[in-house]
Amino acid sequence: TKVLVLNGPNLGRLGRRQPEIYGTTTHAELADLCAGWGRDLGLDVDVRQTNHEGELLDWLNQAADDRTPVVLNAAAWSHYSYALFDACAQLEAPLVEVHISDPASRPEEFRHTSVVSPYAASVVTGQGIDGYRQALAFLAEL
Ligand code: DQA
Repeated sequence: TKVLVLNGPNLGRLGRRQPEIYGTTTHAELADLCAGWGRDLGLDVDVRQTNHEGELLDWLNQAADDRTPVVLNAAAWSHYSYALFDACAQLEAPLVEVHISDPASRPEEFRHTSVVSPYAASVVTGQGIDGYRQALAFLAEL
């Protein structure tokens, strides 16, 4: 089974970006880890990152057409993008929302809402990079 792992804005700087919050694993390392976890679970994992909202919407639209399961860390867009909300609404295959940190327990009020959660079959937060493994394991179980 093919699975898309889609990462939103600023996650390309994983490992260097606020490591006290997001850890020291880089995005390239995350992509390798996801590919390996996918192999173990029998999933063909394609990991992508973008800082451009329209590109993420294009990927989600394609995933809807192809009925591809998605693991999504939409980063800050998760908190306010109604275009993202609409894109998630039309997905046909399961969607798993991942956040490396736990947005609900962070001080900024804007992190306490998610436009993705209403459409997520599962939400994994605060597990660090292992959250992606947990999300893939959830999809493999289905
Ligand atoms: C994040 C949490 C978001 O609030 C933040 O905007 C991010 C990363 C996470 O993975 O913990 O960029 O999605």
